[in-house]
Amino acid sequence: MRVMEAVNLQEITEGIRQSVKPVSILWQAPDSVAFVARGRPGRSEFHVDPSDEVMLMIKGDMHLHYLTPEGEEKVLLLREGEIMYCPAGTPHSPRFSPDAFVLVLERKRREGEDDRFRWYCANCKAPLYEAVRHVTDYNSDPVSRVYEEFYGSEQARTCRQCGHVTPRPETASPGTR
Ligand SMILES: [Fe+2]
Repeated sequence: MRVMEAVNLQEITEGIRQSVKPVSILWQAPDSVAFVARGRPGRSEFHVDPSDEVMLMIKGDMHLHYLTPEGEEKVLLLREGEIMYCPAGTPHSPRFSPDAFVLVLERKRREGEDDRFRWYCANCKAPLYEAVRHVTDYNSDPVSRVYEEFYGSEQARTCRQCGHVTPRPETASPGTR
């Protein structure tokens, strides 16, 4: 058995502040993955994954946008010190500032399970782009990788329905700061 260790969340958030990486992985086990993330400027996509997620705001507030099964967009305000449950398969978009921090608990992906990252047109709401990944290791920071893919391609950001082009965030791409 692996030796059990306590993790100090204050130390983890300080470490992220001083790092270029926006995420710190606490552990990855088959039924339990834990990480702390700071907000990403320009986070706009909806993440759909096969695991339940539990989110606890350690510092600052989050606006968690999500889509109901009928496709209606709702926003949950999750304040510092509050915790919430996001059922598997719910498209969700965690929007919070780079000096705010969330603790996320989920489970490791199983064989054949994919994570989907979907962007919608801000002008007409049409589906814009979807990146699909089989996430085997959170240390690879899959969110940053798909943001590079989306913002790096004008074609991906151009709406086929209305022609609107989603601009790049004013700051560096969400994964790089
Ligand atoms: Fe559009």
